[in-house]
Amino acid sequence: MDGTGIDLIVRERMKVVEGDITRLDVDAIVNAANSSLLGGGGVDGAIHRAAGPGLLAECRSLGGCPTGEARITGGHELPARHVIHTVGPIYDQHLPVEAARLLRSCYVESLRLAEEAGLETIAFPGISTGVYHYPKTEACAVAASAAAEWLAAHHLPRVVTFCCFSVADAALYRARLGIVD
Ligand code: APR
Repeated sequence: MDGTGIDLIVRERMKVVEGDITRLDVDAIVNAANSSLLGGGGVDGAIHRAAGPGLLAECRSLGGCPTGEARITGGHELPARHVIHTVGPIYDQHLPVEAARLLRSCYVESLRLAEEAGLETIAFPGISTGVYHYPKTEACAVAASAAAEWLAAHHLPRVVTFCCFSVADAALYRARLGIVD
């Protein structure tokens, strides 16, 4: 292990990409949703636009989702076969330690649903780091440690991708994961 604290075997199952998560051809993309699961702006809006009206119709049947939990749907018109919707913490509404617990839960619950569904590949956006104002450096550390711990203990998903919407975000993840492209 280098300074990241992540074993090489685990790190080889983690990827960082820059771009639009709606274009990724993976088994599941994760949506940074709100508790209604009825769409919104940011990545939520982008996913619903790309998935088409069938996604909203399916989400209506789910009855919402509490912060820190996750729900799985089909991918509809997306390249991804599934969407895992998770609701991150609104950073300013929690003490930092509670916000970190909730954010970690978003990653772990999404990974658990992916494993239960037998999915091999999953891609995450930076949950809560937009409208919900979670500081990106802290969120990256939570995401990286949650994913690394999961992968060290589980065969599925086989590969976790962090889909960053900016070059700066991608550099943050590559530095935290010790990934040199
Ligand atoms: N692909 C990948 N990442 C994206 C995309 C995209 N197409 N669009 C935005 N992002 C990134 C943002 O740059 C940010 O880093 O996703 C991250 C999460 O930002 P938000 O989408 O604002 O999500 P969040 O901060 O979790 O706030 C959730 O926003 O859109 C509403 O309905 C949503 O109420 C909920 C809230």
